[in-house]
Amino acid sequence: MKHLLKSIPVPSIEPFKQWLPFSCLSMATIAVLLMLGSSCTTVPDAVVVPPQVEGAHFVGNQKCADCHGEHTRHFAGSVHSRFFKETSQFHEVSGCESCHGPGSKHIVAGGGKGVFIHNPGRDPQPCLNCHQEKHAEFRLPQHHPVLEGQMNCVDCHDPHGREIFKQSGGLGLARQDQQCAQCHREQTRPFVFVHEGMQDGCTTCHQPHGSIHEKMLTQRDAHLCLRCHSQMQFDPNQVLVGKVDHSTFLAMGTCWTAGCHTAVHGSMVNPRLLY
Ligand code: HEC
Ligand code: HEC
Ligand code: HEC
Ligand code: HEC
Ligand code: HEC
Ligand code: HEC
Ligand code: HEC
Repeated sequence: MKHLLKSIPVPSIEPFKQWLPFSCLSMATIAVLLMLGSSCTTVPDAVVVPPQVEGAHFVGNQKCADCHGEHTRHFAGSVHSRFFKETSQFHEVSGCESCHGPGSKHIVAGGGKGVFIHNPGRDPQPCLNCHQEKHAEFRLPQHHPVLEGQMNCVDCHDPHGREIFKQSGGLGLARQDQQCAQCHREQTRPFVFVHEGMQDGCTTCHQPHGSIHEKMLTQRDAHLCLRCHSQMQFDPNQVLVGKVDHSTFLAMGTCWTAGCHTAVHGSMVNPRLLY
């Protein structure tokens, strides 16, 4: 997103003006520093082309507010609204139209579903244009089938409102698990023997977009579990995990594939998370 910040230097520098009683030189220095600093944001440096609608031009958020007041009101709280001010010289990729495409023909036609307007709820390409690193995540061997069209970013993210503003990528932790629960009932139902490792949420163990590990796990094999459960080895033949001698078990596979803690999300029958 470096180029976007570069293109809208004025709004980004505005708050710093009070510290800059001197020359344009110091302004320029700060601008350069800001750009250098911004080069480590998550959206990579590439040319972003907003979605196109043949023959239409960009009109700005105010025009959309006439008919979509609800969306426009929520939008003020979104990260996306902070980046793309209508006043910026980069207005082509600003606000509503950065995701929905230029709206003039949609408006002249009086609006309507599928009438000269994009809906990334059906095709997430506009999101992927900017979030190219997410595009890459969805191409990893294990991934949620978003690019396949079986699900969409909006199954987990709220594109307009306050939600996108919250921690962890627009999803508070509690709500995040609820989001997963909509589709994954088995892992999120109440258990008799709860695994306390679930308390910090699904993303402790799973990558939400995609991963190189099976079941989209954050780490491979026993590494995943040993982050929280310490392993102690007193002599080469005895490996203790959770005070139980695991030396023969670990030779059979990893914590769950060995046929042991297969109920890793929680168990109805066994406190050791066995089925
Ligand atoms: C003259 C009123 C009007 C204006 C102005 C207007 N729209 Fe719409 N828009 C509509 C109507 C009516 C619908 C259909 C609503 C429905 O079916 O729920 C619609 C639907 C949409 C949809 C859903 C399309 C789909 O295929 O699902 C999007 C996205 C949208 N508008 C975006 C915008 C954007 C962005 C702007 C500003 C550039 C804008 N609209 C301006 C009236 C308007
Ligand atoms: C970050 C990208 C993004 C931006 C910016 C954005 N939208 Fe949307 N919009 C979406 C997505 C994604 C959907 C599909 C939502 C769904 O299916 O639940 C959508 C759906 C809509 C719809 C169809 C009705 C609905 O809620 O499904 C309207 C109308 C709309 N947007 C208007 C706007 C307006 C007005 C703005 C600016 C104030 C705006 N959008 C800014 C991504 C965006
Ligand atoms: C025009 C470029 C652009 C488009 C289009 C776009 N985004 Fe973003 N998005 C950004 C920028 C810039 C940020 C803030 C910088 C960052 O954290 O990467 C951001 C941040 C986010 C965040 C993190 C919010 C947070 O709290 O940190 C999420 C989630 C997100 N976008 C999802 C989406 C989704 C879903 C879509 C499509 C419906 C979309 N974006 C479309 C540029 C874009
Ligand atoms: C299965 C649910 C799910 C889907 C589908 C999904 N996301 Fe996410 N996304 C998440 C979760 C959960 C997080 C928070 C990750 C964390 O906290 O480690 C997140 C974080 C993000 C972030 C900010 C995190 C960061 O790395 O800075 C962006 C941007 C984002 N998602 C974009 C997208 C886009 C674009 C799409 C669609 C192409 C999408 N997501 C689809 C669940 C999802
Ligand atoms: C809209 C429905 C939906 C939501 C919401 C959702 N998922 Fe999924 N999930 C799927 C689908 C569809 C698959 C692919 C299943 C398949 O390929 O058999 C999947 C696959 C998975 C897998 C891999 C399963 C396997 O067999 O490889 C894991 C792990 C997973 N999701 C975790 C999560 C987490 C964590 C969240 C919340 C951040 C989440 N899901 C949100 C629909 C969803
Ligand atoms: C985020 C931290 C965390 C992760 C990761 C984690 N656990 Fe746990 N687990 C806990 C906590 C906390 C407890 C409850 C305290 C205890 O018994 O050590 C627990 C308890 C257990 C128990 C019950 C122990 C007993 O004697 O009652 C088993 C079995 C277990 N975990 C297996 C696993 C397996 C297998 C994995 C890897 C797939 C794993 N855990 C990953 C935190 C975690
Ligand atoms: C302590 C780590 C841990 C946490 C937390 C965790 N999972 Fe898992 N999950 C695993 C492991 C390990 C597997 C692989 C189990 C297997 O293959 O039998 C798995 C597998 C899955 C699968 C695939 C099941 C299948 O039969 O293919 C889904 C879906 C899933 N988890 C969803 C979730 C959801 C939703 C959450 C949050 C409510 C969550 N997980 C939290 C460790 C975890």
